[in-house]
Amino acid sequence: MRKLNGSIKTSKISKSFSGKTVLKSIDLDIKNGEIFGLLGPSGAGKTTLIRILTGQLSPDSGNAFIGGTDIRKITGRERRCFGITMDDFGVYERLNCYDNLKIFAGIYGLSKANIKNALKKVGLSNAEKTAAGKLSKGMTGRLKLARAFMTDPDILFLDEPTSGLDPAAAAEIHKMILEEKRHGKTVFLTTHIMTEAEKLCDNIALLNDGKIVEYGKPKEICRKFNDKKTLKIHLTDGRDIEIPLDKNSAETVAELISTGKAETMHTTEPDLETVFMEITGKELFA
Ligand SMILES: Nc1ncnc2c1ncn2[C@@H]1O[C@H](COP(=O)(O)OP(=O)(O)O)[C@@H](O)[C@H]1O
Ligand SMILES: [Mg+2]
Repeated sequence: MRKLNGSIKTSKISKSFSGKTVLKSIDLDIKNGEIFGLLGPSGAGKTTLIRILTGQLSPDSGNAFIGGTDIRKITGRERRCFGITMDDFGVYERLNCYDNLKIFAGIYGLSKANIKNALKKVGLSNAEKTAAGKLSKGMTGRLKLARAFMTDPDILFLDEPTSGLDPAAAAEIHKMILEEKRHGKTVFLTTHIMTEAEKLCDNIALLNDGKIVEYGKPKEICRKFNDKKTLKIHLTDGRDIEIPLDKNSAETVAELISTGKAETMHTTEPDLETVFMEITGKELFA
């Protein structure tokens, strides 16, 4: 089977449903081996874009290339190089973990070893015989991930992989995603959790009402929105002060440091959550 290079490029992808435009001229350039995060509130168009890129849905217009190949020309067999979890890919609650994966292993022509490896990779070997309905939310999230891992894919499309999980369970999934990156995989993930994006993603696009409103490295986007440009200093006497981050403050800062009066210093660039709210006027929620 031909291996796919994991780069993803889209040019002016648009999609409407019954006259309502859901994606408007989406341009993306994702490099092989990158973790890319598509962020946006519920209804922004994130899942629709994953469906288009993975061949589940056709765009109305525009082009997309994965590993340089037009997505229209990627065969079903080559799509095995994609590992996909969608927010609506459920699990069969009455089947155990092994049998849940066996259904899809059958479709992909995979062996028992593939199933076992995937369960091992997500730390579910011991839960092989446990009914999916009895798993914790975190374990269910990992079972969905195991399904995506089964074909040893070159590209992972993870639609809200940590939605509804507590921080510890989400952190487990984050570790697995970063491990995939270490193995050279490209990861396209969607999330509405900004801290997750800040932690994992090399690049992000903020999607709002079907349009990309910001695109780049998380830290760079935050710096761009740093209108205040101040320095917050916590003093050893317990006071908090905020001074402009400019050359006129240099002496004050030097003095606070040399006299040991400064305990912590922070610049005031906003976090992604604040940036997003500023741009869209919306809070992010599932
Ligand atoms: N098959 C469909 N038919 C009609 N409308 C759809 C369909 N799929 C998605 N939509 C609409 O497109 C918009 C974007 O949906 P979606 O891509 O699921 O957003 P997100 O994943 O960002 O929450 C929503 O308004 C949704 O109702
Ligand atoms: Mg969605």
